[in-house]
Amino acid sequence: MQKNGTLWKDTDGADIQAHGGCILFHNGTYYWYGENKNAVTVKRRMDFIGFSCYTSKNLVDWKNEGLVFKAFKEPANHEAGIKCIGERPKVVYSKKLKKFVLWFHLDNMTYELRRAAWAISDSPVGPFEYMGSFKPNIRDCCDFTVFIDNDEKAYFICAGDMNKTMLIHEMDDTYTKFTGAYKAIFTDQAREAPVFYHVGDWYYSATSGCTGYSPNAMLYGTSEHIFGRWRLWDNPCMGRADYRKTFQGQSCNSLFANGRWYMMLDHWNPEDIRVSGYSILPVNFDGGYMEVLWEDEWNGIK
Ligand code: DGJ
Repeated sequence: MQKNGTLWKDTDGADIQAHGGCILFHNGTYYWYGENKNAVTVKRRMDFIGFSCYTSKNLVDWKNEGLVFKAFKEPANHEAGIKCIGERPKVVYSKKLKKFVLWFHLDNMTYELRRAAWAISDSPVGPFEYMGSFKPNIRDCCDFTVFIDNDEKAYFICAGDMNKTMLIHEMDDTYTKFTGAYKAIFTDQAREAPVFYHVGDWYYSATSGCTGYSPNAMLYGTSEHIFGRWRLWDNPCMGRADYRKTFQGQSCNSLFANGRWYMMLDHWNPEDIRVSGYSILPVNFDGGYMEVLWEDEWNGIK
């Protein structure tokens, strides 16, 4: 059992360093990738360390597989070097290439670069080879997710225009390139930390407001088509008094397990980011309505 909202331990009893991450299921194993923040926080920032991977069969006991992508120590001015920001790693398996593709948000310490970066590996536990960075369709890219639809088409969905707008970019079938088709949604609504689902006839989004590492209210959105008319609705969180603050957390990524959908949350500690906690919470959908339910415990595969 892991206690939601707290910093989880791995199978060695060490703190799990996999913040802002994602869980990939591949050939019977779950792979959890996330930001390794095991350093001292200074003014809510730290050097870029890299991305960790943990493996599990039951989603509760996590074995540390180490850093699968490391920030470059040399040259000192490398665009993905230790003086950069690397956030929200998302790993997808490209059936077309038979490779694992790691995407992340690359930035400078003042968040003015706003680029998508990618790396590739033959193995889910890396090492991932750095391939470069760019602005998808020449638009800003901050918090993002890679959303794989039920037909296996992939969309790179990110906060753009200085976090004012959310952009849905269509990817090609290798999950490494962009087709050029994209749509801006939630214009001027300043949403970030996107999580997307497609359940039944509806697409659903969950996003946070833009308040850095401080919690705010999650909002959900719906559309009948991925490139359709997205509408922001309401706060889907319920079950604890701090639901208006997303249970002191922030949306991180979706997870499908036990025949149902869940949402991963980060519970950031802005003054000491390495001790930020995690939650995995059940999500219910009903014809365009969505709810995220607080549970004290995460018990993994039932
Ligand atoms: C909010 C984002 O969701 C996080 O990933 C991180 O970028 C913080 N802002 C930094 O303040």
